[in-house]
Amino acid sequence: MSHNLLKGKKGIIFGALDEKSIAWRTALRCHEEGAELVLSNAPVALRMGEIKVLAEKVNAPIVGADVTNMDDLKNLFETAMKHFNGGIDFVLHSIGMGLNVRKGKKYTELDYGFNQKTLDISAMSLHRVLRTAWDMDAINEHGSVISLTYIAAQRVFPDYSEMADAKALLESVTRSFGYHYGIRKKVRVNTVSQSPTRTTAGSGIKGFDGFINFAEKMSPLGNATADECADYCVTLFSDLTKMVTMQNLFHDGGFSTTGITADVIEQMEK
Ligand SMILES: NC(=O)c1ccc[n+]([C@@H]2O[C@H](COP(=O)([O-])OP(=O)(O)OC[C@H]3O[C@@H](n4cnc5c(N)ncnc54)[C@H](O)[C@@H]3O)[C@@H](O)[C@H]2O)c1
Repeated sequence: MSHNLLKGKKGIIFGALDEKSIAWRTALRCHEEGAELVLSNAPVALRMGEIKVLAEKVNAPIVGADVTNMDDLKNLFETAMKHFNGGIDFVLHSIGMGLNVRKGKKYTELDYGFNQKTLDISAMSLHRVLRTAWDMDAINEHGSVISLTYIAAQRVFPDYSEMADAKALLESVTRSFGYHYGIRKKVRVNTVSQSPTRTTAGSGIKGFDGFINFAEKMSPLGNATADECADYCVTLFSDLTKMVTMQNLFHDGGFSTTGITADVIEQMEK
């Protein structure tokens, strides 16, 4: 059901790989709420071609950009501003890649070359995106920028490995750049800390099935789905949350503040 919360707003959505992606679900909801969109993903992801299905559904152009490449980002913002005939109201950064995780390297045996790439793709890319927008003055007053993060930034989830460090850095960039962009243009910058979700990136974590079931049992409301995350992002892009910035916002069914649940106790007693 649409409430026209984003009517007249223009946004860039990074990271829709397939229909399970949080970015994909968010693009659909933003479109439903009246936003105009530009979709972006890494050239290698675009070659898979699935994003074209989404682009048709939400009537949006696709602009390839590797988030670690400043020329790509400049081209993306220029193309988007030309397409919208003006500035941008919101950006979704829904990007993550753990090179060591992917290559099966344990946290105690990190390859630092891979690690640098992980931090660049998953965290400093937010700085790169904000810096590009800042230099071009691309984001409108009261604009909203959201990145997706995970609670492993605050607490240890051993198999999340180097991605925990990447998320901690991402959350820090959110606060630091959020300060400057707030002062300059009232642009808000936040992270949404989402429940484990069955997507390509999510399923890359070792023992994901156990992980997601545990979180489900440890959350009074259960795990939040990608569609529910999309709903939350819509509220954060809307004018109803104009004074929320530099926050890490948990969207996790209560997991982050729950010590133990009856379900988990019951399991432990077996
Ligand atoms: N799935 C979960 O359990 C979960 C939980 C909390 C947070 N998150 C975060 O949500 C975000 C979206 O992940 P998802 O779960 O929808 O998985 P996903 O695999 O669908 O999305 C990850 C996206 O990152 C893109 N990407 C990777 N390298 C890139 C690069 N160099 N340039 C541009 N794009 C690049 C991929 O192409 C892909 O579209 C990530 O930041 C992830 O860490 C996921």
